[in-house]
Amino acid sequence: MNIYFICLLLANCLELYECSQFDEFVDNVSDYINYSTNYIPRKSNKDLLDTCNSSLHYYGEYDFIIVGGGSAGSVLANRLSEINDWKVLLLEAGGNQNNFSDIPAFCGYVTHSHMDWGYFTTPRKTFCQGMVNKQCKFSRGKVLGGSGVLNVMVYHRASPSDYDSWENLGIDGWSYEEILPYFIKSERIQIADYDRGYHGTQGPLHVNYTAPRTSLSEPFFKACEEKGLKRIDYNGKNTVGVSRMQFTINFNKRDDGAHAFLDPIIDKRSNLKVLLNAFVTKILLNNSTAKGVEFMKDYKKYTAKAKMEVIVSSGSINTPQLLMLSGIGPKEELTKHKIEVKNDLPVGRFLKDHPMFINMIFRSNNIAPNRTLRENLKRYVRGETPLTNALGVENVAFINTKTPGRGPPDIELIITPPPLGVPDKSLSYLFLNLDEYFSEVYEGYNPLTDFCIYIVLLNPKSVGSVTLQSKNPIDFPVIDLNYFSDPNNEDIETMYRGIKYALSLMNTKAFRDINATFIGNQLGCRDVERNGSEKEYWTCAIKHFTSTIYHPMSTTRMGRSSKDSVVNSKCLVHRTQNLRVVDAGVIPDIIRGHPNAPTFMIAEKVSDDIKKYYGKL
Ligand SMILES: Cc1cc2nc3c(=O)[nH]c(=O)nc-3n(C[C@H](O)[C@H](O)[C@H](O)COP(=O)(O)OP(=O)(O)OC[C@H]3O[C@@H](n4cnc5c(N)ncnc54)[C@H](O)[C@@H]3O)c2cc1C
Ligand SMILES: *[C@@H]1O[C@H](CO)[C@@H](O)[C@H](O)[C@H]1NC(C)=O
Ligand SMILES: *[C@@H]1O[C@H](CO)[C@@H](O)[C@H](O)[C@H]1NC(C)=O
Ligand SMILES: *[C@@H]1O[C@H](CO)[C@@H](O)[C@H](O)[C@H]1NC(C)=O
Ligand SMILES: *[C@@H]1O[C@H](CO)[C@@H](O)[C@H](O)[C@H]1NC(C)=O
Ligand SMILES: *[C@@H]1O[C@H](CO)[C@@H](O)[C@H](O)[C@H]1NC(C)=O
Ligand SMILES: *[C@@H]1O[C@H](CO)[C@@H](O)[C@H](O)[C@H]1NC(C)=O
Ligand SMILES: *[C@@H]1O[C@H](CO)[C@@H](O)[C@H](O)[C@H]1NC(C)=O
Ligand SMILES: *[C@@H]1O[C@H](CO)[C@@H](O)[C@H](O)[C@H]1NC(C)=O
Ligand SMILES: *[C@@H]1O[C@H](CO)[C@@H](O)[C@H](O)[C@H]1NC(C)=O
Repeated sequence: MNIYFICLLLANCLELYECSQFDEFVDNVSDYINYSTNYIPRKSNKDLLDTCNSSLHYYGEYDFIIVGGGSAGSVLANRLSEINDWKVLLLEAGGNQNNFSDIPAFCGYVTHSHMDWGYFTTPRKTFCQGMVNKQCKFSRGKVLGGSGVLNVMVYHRASPSDYDSWENLGIDGWSYEEILPYFIKSERIQIADYDRGYHGTQGPLHVNYTAPRTSLSEPFFKACEEKGLKRIDYNGKNTVGVSRMQFTINFNKRDDGAHAFLDPIIDKRSNLKVLLNAFVTKILLNNSTAKGVEFMKDYKKYTAKAKMEVIVSSGSINTPQLLMLSGIGPKEELTKHKIEVKNDLPVGRFLKDHPMFINMIFRSNNIAPNRTLRENLKRYVRGETPLTNALGVENVAFINTKTPGRGPPDIELIITPPPLGVPDKSLSYLFLNLDEYFSEVYEGYNPLTDFCIYIVLLNPKSVGSVTLQSKNPIDFPVIDLNYFSDPNNEDIETMYRGIKYALSLMNTKAFRDINATFIGNQLGCRDVERNGSEKEYWTCAIKHFTSTIYHPMSTTRMGRSSKDSVVNSKCLVHRTQNLRVVDAGVIPDIIRGHPNAPTFMIAEKVSDDIKKYYGKL
């Protein structure tokens, strides 16, 4: 086909799209926003389970059964089914994603829909104080593609020293040098200015910037440069500096495990069965050997047998729950719920997550164009901002506040320019679970001039947990983030330094040139402001307006000893046979980065380990 013909074809398609389908698309999007706004989160897994119905059906025998089709599960299903004589069953509790969840900007709405499990955090006194019942929403994907269908699409690998420290814990094979090839294997980078030698161009997962850049982008870069930061590819040579955000997007639509690893093969490989709306309630163990799983689908109960392995990829929250329901977990926790202890392991004990301060709102005289939803959707179809930016996220700085100029970052500043940079009040209820009083912080802002700098604590010391409400899979797991509980108070100190750094950007020439002013209103802290020190004031603000950036890790951590870890360096559960956990939960200690790319990497590496073990590689 010659170029002329391709252009003609493309032009026609766009034309056609605009004429006959665009109106319907705009209606669909409006409907979905309305649906999400009125959606009431689930309170339990009642939609999946009918405990009265006990008739048992048999779903057959497979070589591998993978539990959960999220980021990790999608990779495993693809890579293992490359071996023709392996029969693979992928069981996913959710259904399919749709046109709406493909649109990056609307991920806040998608977290408030049936594609989310519906979890909230355990109330504590040191964080989420501005939220309804002092509980933050704890979104987790319940959909093929997993949390990758809800997430902000940031593609970030953390710092090389994070992986090198796994080596120091005695976990073999995970030094940065050894894992870099697996990042490269999964990636298809489509940006031009990246550090050579660090990125892949042939993998299934698309990585790109969003375009065109907003007009606030360059002032932010210049302000950071005045503060001594360099422009970097944060997934390359340097991990401290300022950068455009790299996203898992493909022609400006969301890319995720399901799109990248399953869509291309799902109808082509007869040895792969993907079963949706299938909720696994138990791993069947014969003493210490995994034999299969029990699951519910359409209110019917099934068993399926695994000849070779069961691989649990249900994510950092659901995997610990499923292991505990199956008798693998801390003895005290299982005994408390009258579950027979099959394997006493510290499942759910080492939860870590990145706290994020959400109330840094600025105003500048840099004005974004005022467009209607319809106009923005038209731009989206052409691949143009702003709807191509998830929640407005565009640029980022990684800084080291403790030892400036040395070592990996401890704080990440995420800048979200107008017009989507500050959540509107109704979205703040849905996405953040902000209390009606505290959601006033999002009242009265101007969507065309105001922007946020979110502050993420990258190296938290506080340790939380995932435990059970009961032995019944109908009940949600209990998620206790336990932020800001570290004995030396380092987490609050670091967060405070991050806030000061963000405020100091206003003293740069670049920000003065656009008259950037801090307008964040720290509701609930006025008394402290009057009577306390500046630090006490910000400590109060941190406790009210710290949410999560949804990065739970280490709940089934990798390690050598069954005293303080759950899986070994091959992700095999200690003291069991034929059972692996492969998801963000196996990360031994929290890494200084967004976990999605690392989760893809882990699944790529373990897929190869499995192939090697069975002599297929
Ligand atoms: C709102 C939000 C924003 C985020 N932003 C980013 C970001 O920008 N960048 C980034 O790197 N990371 C981000 N993350 C985190 C990232 O998406 C996750 O770390 C990553 O998806 C983890 O992959 P996983 O395979 O461990 O789990 P998941 O992707 O969550 O997959 C688990 C899957 O298992 C299924 N499942 C669970 N239990 C069962 C069961 N019993 N039976 C059957 N199926 C089951 C679930 O439905 C789900 O599909 C974000 C997460 C959220 C929620
Ligand atoms: C609109 O939504 C319907 C129902 O979900 C779907 O079948 C249709 O393809 C969508 N149309 C467009 C143009 O997105
Ligand atoms: C919005 O959703 C509600 C409930 O789902 C429905 O009753 C209402 O008709 C919808 N409104 C519009 C404008 O579609
Ligand atoms: C229970 O299972 C049976 C057999 O599959 C099915 O016919 C019946 O509809 C189920 N009951 C309910 C309440 O779903
Ligand atoms: C909506 O989804 C359909 C089917 O997946 C796809 O063909 C179409 O291009 C999508 N539309 C938009 C605007 O993304
Ligand atoms: C990647 O982004 C650039 C602009 O930033 C755009 O020109 C290009 O088409 C994008 N590539 C894909 C495959 O989306
Ligand atoms: C359990 O394992 C034993 C051997 O360890 C075997 O004899 C027995 O048949 C197994 N039971 C089931 C139900 O698989
Ligand atoms: C587990 O092993 C013990 C002996 O080691 C045996 O007595 C018991 O029957 C086994 N359980 C099952 C379910 O096979
Ligand atoms: C954007 O335009 C709409 C309609 O023209 C108007 O109602 C709205 O107030 C404008 N928004 C801002 C922030 O100027
Ligand atoms: C700068 O911002 C302040 C506060 O928002 C405002 O009062 C002032 O008019 C602005 N100045 C210019 C030149 O935009």
